[in-house]
Amino acid sequence: MSLSAVKPTNTVTKIDEIQSVNTSSLDKIQVTGAQQLNGIIPISGAKNCALKLMCAALLTGETVKFQNSPNTLRDMQSQTELLEYLGCTVSREKDLMAINAGGIKDYTAPYDIVRKMRGSILVLGPLLTRFGEARVSLPGGCAIGTRPVDMHIKALEELGAKINLEGGYINAKAPKGGLQGAKIMFPKVSVGATENLMMAATLANGETILSNAAREPEITDLGECLIKMGAKITGLGTDTIRITGVKNLNSAIHSVIPDRIETGTYMVAAAMTGGNIRLENARLEHLTAAAGHLARAGVQVEQEGNDIIVNRDIDKPLKAIDIMTEPHPGFPTDLQAQFMAMLTIANGASLVTETIFENRFMHVPELNRMGANITVQGNSAIVRGVNGLKGAEVMATDLRASVALVLAGLVADGETTINRIYHLERGYEDIIGKLSRCGAKIKKI
Ligand code: EPZ
Repeated sequence: MSLSAVKPTNTVTKIDEIQSVNTSSLDKIQVTGAQQLNGIIPISGAKNCALKLMCAALLTGETVKFQNSPNTLRDMQSQTELLEYLGCTVSREKDLMAINAGGIKDYTAPYDIVRKMRGSILVLGPLLTRFGEARVSLPGGCAIGTRPVDMHIKALEELGAKINLEGGYINAKAPKGGLQGAKIMFPKVSVGATENLMMAATLANGETILSNAAREPEITDLGECLIKMGAKITGLGTDTIRITGVKNLNSAIHSVIPDRIETGTYMVAAAMTGGNIRLENARLEHLTAAAGHLARAGVQVEQEGNDIIVNRDIDKPLKAIDIMTEPHPGFPTDLQAQFMAMLTIANGASLVTETIFENRFMHVPELNRMGANITVQGNSAIVRGVNGLKGAEVMATDLRASVALVLAGLVADGETTINRIYHLERGYEDIIGKLSRCGAKIKKI
């Protein structure tokens, strides 16, 4: 069945301006380097939070509204496509999103949509707990690793779901009377599994205790929205989250937290270019590990009201630092590529260790094409600082690797052309506008 054939008629999406941003399909970006960045960058709502909040709206037949939603992102559009396919009404205007899941007609998340964005696996828990069944395509691997969903499946089985995998789909059914609260110990910290189970448990019978739960700020924000909808949840931000199931959830209005990875990316831009940037509506408390590393590298970072100010003295070279990615509150894997770009021009050798994903060094050969000196050994990379990078034609491979190449281009001598830049549209709202207004020479070609 084609997607268009089942497109619901109750859709009132107001997305004209949004589509005009993306239909041009950014092919390449050209950055002319050696510009200092100075100015103000407004931070958007967090992609990795908004995508899950959209799934939370499936838990009620009433309308749920989100403010500060990064609606122009391609991933948000894919998630909208999925919710509309299921029968939701989704309306988006500027940074406001409203979702009504009162008319769900289908419990299937098809391969065609799930393959575009792994975040769609997060419809599994909400559909299963509210409707008693769900069919979600297995998301498969992606550029950064194999990314299994075994922990999501096993934990839902512990809530009593009967699950079989057939034809590339997860077919899940809840027992008669609904999912049953349980004690779940995740063998490994997983953001997605924690979120899926937290949502599933909101409408289960009795209490669910999630141990070794992820503590990312996006999970706390999702939990706070669920609480506004009527869920009973305690322990957010700790590794033990307790959820007591309720019969129904209701409407709510929730504001999405600022995107900490977008924030961290622009912090690195200021650090690399020796600039002074004010990041509007950003929270340093969500970036403690990254800010600590920047301080050790010689970058000044401070919170001022709702903004973060980042400043580096151009006359003082960046210092080499060692980084190891870890679950929150450790250093985030989603900032590893950006920090590696920064360390290519630091004074000395840095060791960057990736512990979350097995294949998240695809930016290394591209940075080396620009004159960086990086050697990968297993899950570590030795980055020996060089005096300067040189512009080159490079290839973006995933969202964060792409933005790392943009950052490298900002300081490289001459022009850097980045191909396959559509990855950037998935996670960075108006990156060209935001950087240009601070003095970067960056354009689509
Ligand atoms: C989320 O992915 C983010 N995506 C990722 O951001 C982020 O890198 C990641 O968390 C870690 O912080 C979204 O929020 C949409 P995980 P998620 O489950 O939830 C393994 C970006 O650039 N694992 O915490 O999929 C897994 O393979 C993206 O914005 C299992 O083994 O990540 C990984 O090694 C990329 N079995 C580790 O756990 C499972 O069932 C952590 O993954 C689930 C995960």
